[in-house]
Parts: sequence; C-alpha cells; structure tokens
Amino acid sequence: MEEVAVVIVGAGPAGIATSACLNRLNISNVVLEREDCYASLWKNRSYDRLKLHLAKQFCELPYMPFPRDAPTYIPRKEFIQYLDTYVSTFKINPLYHRSVETAFYDEDVEKWCVVVNNTRLGVQETFCAQFLVVATGENSEGYVPRTQGLGSFNGEVIHSSQYENGRKYCGKDVLVVGSGNSGMEIAYDLSNYGANTSIVVRSPVHVLTKEIVFLGMVLAKYLPVKVVDGIVLFLASWKYGNLSKYGIEKPKIGPFYLKQDKGQAPIIDVGSIEKIKGGEIKVFPSITSIEGNKIRFANDTVKCYDAIIFATGYKSTVLKWLKDDNNLFNDDGMPEKSYPNHWKSEKGLYCAGFSRRGLCGISQDAQNITNDITFSLNQNKKRI
Ligand SMILES: Cc1cc2nc3c(=O)[nH]c(=O)nc-3n(C[C@H](O)[C@H](O)[C@H](O)COP(=O)(O)OP(=O)(O)OC[C@H]3O[C@@H](n4cnc5c(N)ncnc54)[C@H](O)[C@@H]3O)c2cc1C
Ligand SMILES: *[C@@H]1O[C@H](CO)[C@@H](O)[C@H](O)[C@H]1NC(C)=O
Ligand SMILES: *[C@@H]1O[C@H](CO)[C@@H](O)[C@H](O)[C@H]1NC(C)=O
Ligand SMILES: *[C@@H]1O[C@H](CO)[C@@H](O)[C@H](O)[C@H]1NC(C)=O
Ligand SMILES: *[C@@H]1O[C@H](CO)[C@@H](O)[C@H](O)[C@H]1NC(C)=O
Ligand SMILES: *[C@@H]1O[C@H](CO)[C@@H](O)[C@H](O)[C@H]1NC(C)=O
Ligand SMILES: *[C@@H]1O[C@H](CO)[C@@H](O)[C@H](O)[C@H]1NC(C)=O
Ligand SMILES: *[C@@H]1O[C@H](CO)[C@@H](O)[C@H](O)[C@H]1NC(C)=O
Repeated sequence: MEEVAVVIVGAGPAGIATSACLNRLNISNVVLEREDCYASLWKNRSYDRLKLHLAKQFCELPYMPFPRDAPTYIPRKEFIQYLDTYVSTFKINPLYHRSVETAFYDEDVEKWCVVVNNTRLGVQETFCAQFLVVATGENSEGYVPRTQGLGSFNGEVIHSSQYENGRKYCGKDVLVVGSGNSGMEIAYDLSNYGANTSIVVRSPVHVLTKEIVFLGMVLAKYLPVKVVDGIVLFLASWKYGNLSKYGIEKPKIGPFYLKQDKGQAPIIDVGSIEKIKGGEIKVFPSITSIEGNKIRFANDTVKCYDAIIFATGYKSTVLKWLKDDNNLFNDDGMPEKSYPNHWKSEKGLYCAGFSRRGLCGISQDAQNITNDITFSLNQNKKRI
C-alpha cells in the first residue's frame, strides 16, 4: 500500500495539468493511467487530420503557453509534442498499466483508498490519499447507440475513436452516423480519400467557421452571450445561407448559449458543408433499421453500405469504479453541479476535465483544485 497526498486517476491533459500544478508546490501526488502512455486519446484514439478546433490561446495548460511561432490551430502531432514538453518540464511520472477498479472513502482513517489492477503484472495494488482527483475524462469510452439490426450488418462497424484516415475506404460506400465535429470531419476526410460518403444528421446543429468561433470567443469576454449569438448567427447565415434544404436544421437557441447551457458544441466546419452542397457528401435522416448491408433511413430511402462509422460521442465511465462520490456526479457520470461549481465535492474529492469546456476548462479545474488542496493542507497544519 502506498501513501501520497493526492491520487489522480487518468493521465490525459486534465490529469497531467493537475499533477503539474501540484508538483510546482511540492505536493506529493501519483497519476494512475490504464494505458501505456499519457494522453492516449490524442496518441492512440484520434484521427490523423485532427487539429485543435479552438485557437491556441484557448487550449493552453497551466504555466506553459504554446510557442509564439506555433500555428493558431495546433495540429494533433504538435499538440502531442507540447504535452511531451509539458510532462518533462513539470516532471510528471504517471504509473501506467494501472486500471482503477474501485475507489472508496475510508471513514476510519479519513482517506481515499484506490484499488488498482496492475494489468502488466496482473496484481492488485492499493493507493491511499487524503485527496482524490477524478481525471478519467468525458470521453473515456466510445458510445454507440442501440440500432435495430446492427448485428446483422455484414460490413465493417467502428467508432470514431478507431478511425485514423480514409485511405482504405477509397471507392467504398461509407456511412458516418452523427454530425458533431468528429462526424463532419471524418465525412470530409472520407470523401477526400474517394469514399462514396453519406452522413446521418439526426438533430438540429449550428454550423460556424473557426474564424466566426474565434470572434465569438473574443466578444464573449465583453458582451452578453445573447448579443454574441446574434452577431455569430448573422455571420453564419451570411457565410452558409439556409442549410435546411440540405438536411441540416438550426437549433432555436444560439450556439454560444447552447454550449454554455447544455455543453452542446457547434460544428466548426472544415470543408464538409461545401461537399454537402455539392452533393459529394449525402445527408440522411436517422437510421430506422439495418438488414445485411441495407440501411433504411427515416425518410424510407434504402441504401447499401460497406462500412459504418459511429461518431456518436463518448461517455464517462467514472461511476463504474468510484464509490462514495458524494453526489459529485449524476447518473451519466457527469458533474451534478453546473459550472463553475462542478469540480469540488466533500472529503477531498475533485474532478478535473468535466466542465465541457475543453482544454481551457481543464486548465481552470487543475488550478482551482490545486488552490483548494493547498488551502486544506494549510488548514491542517494550523490545526496541528
Ligand atoms: C476528437 C476530439 C477532439 C477534441 N478537440 C479539442 C480541441 O480542439 N480543443 C479542446 O479544448 N478540447 C478538445 N477536445 C476535448 C478535450 O479537450 C479532450 O477530450 C481532452 O483530451 C480531455 O482530457 P481529459 O484529460 O479530461 O480526458 P482524456 O484525454 O480522455 O484522458 C483520460 C485518461 O484517463 C484514463 N482512464 C480512464 N479510465 C481509467 C481508469 N479506470 N483507470 C485508469 N485510467 C483511466 C484514460 O485512459 C485516459 O488516458 C476534443 C475531444 C475529442 C474526443
Ligand atoms: C519545492 O522543493 C524544491 C526542492 O526541494 C525547492 O527548491 C522549492 O523551493 C520548493 N517549492 C515550494 C513551492 O515549496
Ligand atoms: C499509443 O501511442 C504511443 C505513441 O505513439 C505508443 O507509445 C503506445 O504504445 C500506444 N499505445 C497503444 C495501446 O497502442
Ligand atoms: C487485471 O487485468 C488483467 C489484464 O488485463 C486481466 O486479465 C484481469 O482479469 C484483471 N483482474 C481483475 C481482478 O480485474
Ligand atoms: C455511391 O455512388 C453511386 C454513383 O454515384 C450511387 O449510385 C450510389 O447510390 C452511391 N451509394 C450510396 C450509398 O450513396
Ligand atoms: C430555411 O428554409 C426552410 C425551407 O427550405 C424554411 O422552412 C425555413 O423557415 C428557412 N429558415 C430560415 C431561417 O429562413
Ligand atoms: C431521403 O434523403 C435522401 C438524402 O437527402 C434523398 O436523396 C432522398 O430522396 C430522400 N428520400 C425521400 C423518399 O424523400
Ligand atoms: C476557478 O477558476 C476560474 C478561472 O480561473 C475562476 O474564475 C473561479 O473563480 C475559480 N473558482 C473558484 C471557486 O476558485
């Protein structure tokens, strides 16, 4: 059994950022990671052409800006390099092959007990700490919705986290399900590689350019969100026109308000909309059933496909292992309290990276958590 001040579960950007903040203050901590490297989502579970969707100043981790000459929208490889530098600068040493199986609060010793499967050695280990930081991410498992007949589909079925690029789909009929940023970008990539591409767009969604988003984020510092939405929507309709004849409806609520209130992000177009307008990417309503390689859509059209890529998002898996969560999380494994009060519970329990605010939110969480832990440790000292 090992004792430290803080156990951090997950070595994604959130876990790394929290460890860095604690290391700066010499607060002992251990980062437990189930995979064999940090930032596995970025290294092993994201597609080749991915770039940060937001400008670099909104994606920094604490105490380390991106290099001045770095591009505004950081490509995946450079983001990984940034994380490499971050990890070595702040001397972060995650323990790998450590899958956390349970964590509970031991009232007798007033500490968190974290039980881990060391999957390389096949042994169980236990870590004890006054503070526990959940940093397993909003994206810890790919989510595939129940779809009638999916089992009978005789082509390939993958989740977007397994998609690398469209090379092998050249000349194939491919259906992308889900029209978030991943789905739209994967459809664009497939089409560039010569796949006969379709996408299912089930619910209304805002489409913006990255420049419009950038402007909106700057304006949001000075103006109320409703005003920002008005400006952003005006620019978007000037750029794209009315997309409803292509099967893409706009939500009734503005994009920045929707992001803030529901965590639902707008699509930041990488070129898919032009392909949709040109008929290179076909838009379909939701799937009603699948039979063999035939897929039936809600408008009763039936088409044949070689592959389906589910870009239907992710889910948090924290409730599988965290006991005694003191209502920090709701049934979906997302924070019960809304931003900015989402990150803290009682008895030294915190979560980092669950504010639906990307890397910017992660950075805030890491610093707020570290401040709070520092405060508690100082209180302890005073008591003694
Ligand atoms: C495709 C994609 C693109 C994105 N692009 C951007 C962007 O441009 N800008 C932006 O700000 N945000 C973006 N995000 C959102 C967010 O910033 C990233 O998802 C970020 O990686 C989240 O960091 P995290 O540390 O919270 O979670 P993760 O990166 O998911 O890390 C969690 C870690 O916990 C580990 N883990 C999980 N369960 C256990 C367990 N039981 N035991 C041990 N370890 C465990 C996982 O293996 C993983 O390494 C994107 C997300 C996705 C999916
Ligand atoms: C952390 O420890 C190092 C080395 O022991 C020391 O130089 C530094 O001042 C300490 N920092 C803080 C904030 O206590
Ligand atoms: C993930 O990618 C990294 C870097 O390329 C590599 O070191 C690691 O072994 C990979 N892990 C898995 C599980 O594929
Ligand atoms: C621990 O991990 C190993 C390797 O993944 C697995 O075979 C084993 O069943 C796990 N043990 C427990 C108790 O979950
Ligand atoms: C693929 O392209 C051909 C010819 O352009 C078309 O007839 C066919 O319906 C397309 N397949 C799908 C699934 O859209
Ligand atoms: C967009 O066009 C559809 C019909 O194609 C129409 O019903 C809708 O009102 C239009 N929306 C706007 C904002 O003009
Ligand atoms: C269903 O949607 C597709 C794609 O937009 C379209 O080509 C087709 O004509 C539609 N079918 C019907 C019956 O409306
Ligand atoms: C958390 O961080 C944000 C941004 O740094 C700050 O505005 C907020 O007040 C902090 N919350 C607490 C409770 O300290």
